[in-house]
Amino acid sequence: DQTVVRRITCVGAGYVGGPTCAMIAYKSPQITVTVVDMNKERIDAWNSDSLPIFEPGLEDVVMKCRGTNLFFSTDVPEAIRSADLIFISVNTPTKMYGKGAGMAPDLKYVESVARSIAEHAQGPKIVVEKSTVPVKAAESILSILEDAQRRSNNNLTFQVLSNPEFLAEGTAMRDLASPDRVLIGGEDSEEGQRAVAALVNVYASWVPRDRILTTKTWSSELSKLVANAFLAQRISSINSVSAICEATGADVREVAKAVGCDERIGSNFLNASVGFGGSCFQKDVLSLVYLCESLHLDKVADYWNGVITINNWQRRRFADAIVSELFNTVAGKKIAIFGFAFKKSTGDTRESSAIHVSKHLMEEEARLAVYDPAVTEKQMRQELVMETSEKSVNKLVTVFSDPYEAAKDAHAIVILTEWEEFKTYDYARMYNAMSHPAAFFDGRLLFKRKDIEAIGFHFFGIGSAP
Ligand code: NAD
Ligand code: UGA
Repeated sequence: DQTVVRRITCVGAGYVGGPTCAMIAYKSPQITVTVVDMNKERIDAWNSDSLPIFEPGLEDVVMKCRGTNLFFSTDVPEAIRSADLIFISVNTPTKMYGKGAGMAPDLKYVESVARSIAEHAQGPKIVVEKSTVPVKAAESILSILEDAQRRSNNNLTFQVLSNPEFLAEGTAMRDLASPDRVLIGGEDSEEGQRAVAALVNVYASWVPRDRILTTKTWSSELSKLVANAFLAQRISSINSVSAICEATGADVREVAKAVGCDERIGSNFLNASVGFGGSCFQKDVLSLVYLCESLHLDKVADYWNGVITINNWQRRRFADAIVSELFNTVAGKKIAIFGFAFKKSTGDTRESSAIHVSKHLMEEEARLAVYDPAVTEKQMRQELVMETSEKSVNKLVTVFSDPYEAAKDAHAIVILTEWEEFKTYDYARMYNAMSHPAAFFDGRLLFKRKDIEAIGFHFFGIGSAP
């Protein structure tokens, strides 16, 4: 039966490939799942006691399946030969060179996987785009595979499906175990629909059938970009409102609640902040903008580009407020930065707003004292060196493992990630050990103005005015 999958290979053992395949192996003991990556260190970590990524619940599932029906390996050719179905789950970062630099996603990793499949496949394969890709990427993958098919004597046939991933970091296992929907796009032909049915059967082991949507390939590819664009747009929308609140005396929390009570609008994803971060929102919105430009839909491109414009502006606006509230000069002043991860419950710092706010403050020669419960010093330095220079990081940045030490003698505390533990500190104790007047900048709506002002701090919070 061609709609029954027995062996799955996933190329790319990252934030998506690892957890997704662990969940498939866990829910489908009859399927053998092999996750491969060219990064040996990463594969070694997947095979060790300390997994390369932290996700609540992941370790449990990996330990239950690893060595039974879940394997991690660097042998890409063998994993391709043995699979019925191959997920491509490699990174698709924003391209930094040539045409589309700074906008288009770089598809070189996806293409290299397609070429490896073309080279090593010996029988029929269903190839599944799990990576987030622009519309029509499946067509390029198929061209490479069909060329191999034409030149081969083997019984090669290929079907390419789109199956984007919607998990969020920090809640990956929960999102995978009960997804709002699974989206599968494929060709209309009989072979295409057989391949779609095969992938539907994989998910149907644990996902209710009415949550598995099947569409045309292009709709599926586009839906992933649009879903991220809508989510990012909500944050930019509420962040734009936060500026109106600061200027008028309205409170963005009250406005978000009042607006979100309307069921048509909904209350999720309306937390104003210092700007969204993470590896995907900016990349995917830019990818959508680039697609629109390529299609000469300039007004549509401008519309979505506004989401990015507001996000950059919000980060800049927050950094500017810090400088302005500290009497227009931060040069030589110690500033405690609380939080460097792009959101709570993760050590991931990709595109974190903390990097951008830090950069702006470093341009003003502030001395930064950074604390984050989950991010290593090495990681913070790497991110900041990439945005500034090694020289200025050495001169201006100190990383602390104790928030009280970070705040000692500082002129200000700046909250950049919404870690729960930040709510539990003794801020009166910190205040007493700081330089005075001491200021407090809440970029995450974690605190109430009156509580922080009562301690003696001068308070600035996103979306609220005195
Ligand atoms: P990642 O960087 O964590 O992992 C990608 C892995 O692919 C890396 O380990 C890399 O070594 C490997 N790789 C690249 N080229 C390879 C090749 N030719 N052969 C073997 N291995 C190769 O990336 P990620 O965060 O897992 O994201 C993967 C894709 O999923 C991206 O397109 C992303 O947009 C999308 N996505 C990510 C998330 C998320 O939360 N991180 C959520 C949904 C979708
Ligand atoms: C996001 C989406 O939520 C996932 O559905 C998607 O699969 C994923 O991108 C992807 O394609 O990579 P993720 O980036 O892990 O997931 O995290 P989110 O929880 O969406 O947060 C993104 C950023 O927005 C964070 O910096 C967060 O702090 C910020 N945010 C989120 C706000 O500022 N306000 C909010 O109300 C919500």
